[in-house]
Amino acid sequence: MSDEVSMIGATLTAWMRGAFGRAFADTGADLSAVDVVVSTNPEFGDFQCNAAMALGKALRQPPRQIAQAALAVAGEHPAVARTELAGPGFINITLKDEALTQYLEAVSRLSTLGVPQVGVGKTVLLDYSSPNVAKPMHIGHIRSTIIGGALDRFYRCLGYRVISDNHIGDWGTQFGILIHGYRHFVDEEKLREYPVEELERIYVKSYEQTKAEPTWLDACRNELVKLQAGDADNRRLWEQFVQWSMAEFERVYQRLGVKFDFVRGESFYNDRLPGVMAALAEHGLVRESEGAQVVFLEEEGLPVCIVRKGDGGFNYATTDLATVASRVAEFAPEKIIYVTDERQQLHFRQFFAICRRLGVTTALQHVWFGLMRLPEGTFSTRQGNVIRLERLLDEAETRALAIVQASRPEMDPAQQREVARAVGIGAVKYADLSQNPQTQITFTWDKALALDGNSGPYLQYAYARIASVRDKYAERFPGIDPEAAPLQLTEPVERMLAVKLSRFPETVLRAAELFRPSVVADYLYDLSQTYSSFYQNVPFLKAPEGVRESRVRLCGLVARVLKQGLGLLGIETPGRI
Ligand code: ARG
Repeated sequence: MSDEVSMIGATLTAWMRGAFGRAFADTGADLSAVDVVVSTNPEFGDFQCNAAMALGKALRQPPRQIAQAALAVAGEHPAVARTELAGPGFINITLKDEALTQYLEAVSRLSTLGVPQVGVGKTVLLDYSSPNVAKPMHIGHIRSTIIGGALDRFYRCLGYRVISDNHIGDWGTQFGILIHGYRHFVDEEKLREYPVEELERIYVKSYEQTKAEPTWLDACRNELVKLQAGDADNRRLWEQFVQWSMAEFERVYQRLGVKFDFVRGESFYNDRLPGVMAALAEHGLVRESEGAQVVFLEEEGLPVCIVRKGDGGFNYATTDLATVASRVAEFAPEKIIYVTDERQQLHFRQFFAICRRLGVTTALQHVWFGLMRLPEGTFSTRQGNVIRLERLLDEAETRALAIVQASRPEMDPAQQREVARAVGIGAVKYADLSQNPQTQITFTWDKALALDGNSGPYLQYAYARIASVRDKYAERFPGIDPEAAPLQLTEPVERMLAVKLSRFPETVLRAAELFRPSVVADYLYDLSQTYSSFYQNVPFLKAPEGVRESRVRLCGLVARVLKQGLGLLGIETPGRI
């Protein structure tokens, strides 16, 4: 058997798109939005196509007439038992029973659960997290780490070769200021305790000094020149700064379960910066303006981009240009995805525009997100500080522990702590990932830890409960393998659950295409809610033989989808909560 199972929803969408296309070929109307959705009510069939409603205006026809015309030319679809025109222009689609059960039988045998391997042979490079040396990770880097980590897993799951690269900010003028400041202000004790906090304090102090004392600034510049020229002492100090910062970032990565294939800081590309200038010159892109080297981007309607400052220093964009060239040459990716906060939108528009002018053909994508507001007090003075992020994670675990202790008093304390860790971290991640990344959100403990709403703990709890159905079955009917019984869908809610299960592969694909983890989160929440009404409304272990096994199997599939889906979001699924 092939490892690929065609996605039901996707084939229905293609079928409907074909029908609308044939019916309205010569109208020039945009039919790209024609698709199918799972019916909200089993009375309306399994799927619905509501495209006619939106096309009424463009086609200047009543939607019902449009839907009828499409249906008239739709022809047969092998999985469809019947279609029905309903209300003002909805098309209700009911699948053949066996189409649905055969599909689920097939995917239940696959470790991919039917997720299409569209990425086989293709490479995606993901640039995410990317904090700066000697500065604490701010909330933007944390969101980048969590969102980037999810996208990383989505693409791997779709069969892509993913190269994850943490583009640390470890080079630039700030190191002159830092080195000079370090030599004068370092407090050894604080340095041992919180190296990154101390480095940041030194930096701020030294930076202020540059404004007060012109000779201070000269001295900083001098240290920078020495560093860039490879001076041994400065080089050693710089390496120390990088090491201290990385150790701190590493602690966060470990708690969040993130690993990178590469951690190549900006310094890695330093030697290639003159080459970027040469390429820009060769393409006639660079001009001098007020002593600086700039690229004009009037055609793109963008402000000029400085690539080399008057004092000879290179800019952030120049490093990104060197980086892209190196990545294309080394990995030949189809796509490079950069995940940062919204404040870098202009930078990426300028940088991508220059790439296109330089002839870079790789698809470049900036995935940006709004800055999440954090609970009052937790991050009060300096936002997103690493130490405090660790405190936020500590607090999540402490709060989760109280919940676990209350719901599982009999569990041994070590296990309680282990479950609380998974629940606490999962709650923080889910609170981030379940939101549309481009909206302003405020994190609250109540929402993040709610056991009855759209939260990480709710889904983890749902998973544990579903997984326990299998155990109960095994207790009651020892030695019987429910997998041997065929799937049968007798109740409407059972059927709806099956239809929703069939959408998992498409959901992963869509989330990756839209760069939106929330698509997966919404799906999992919806699936677990449908499961709840299934569980509450139909008997399981008391059902007649055959039906009982089928239900237990369906349950097992829901559990697998939840586990895999949460896993894609980087959320663990403890077996017991
Ligand atoms: N270090 C940068 C910052 O903190 C983010 C880097 C993002 N990646 C990139 N290739 N520009 O703002």
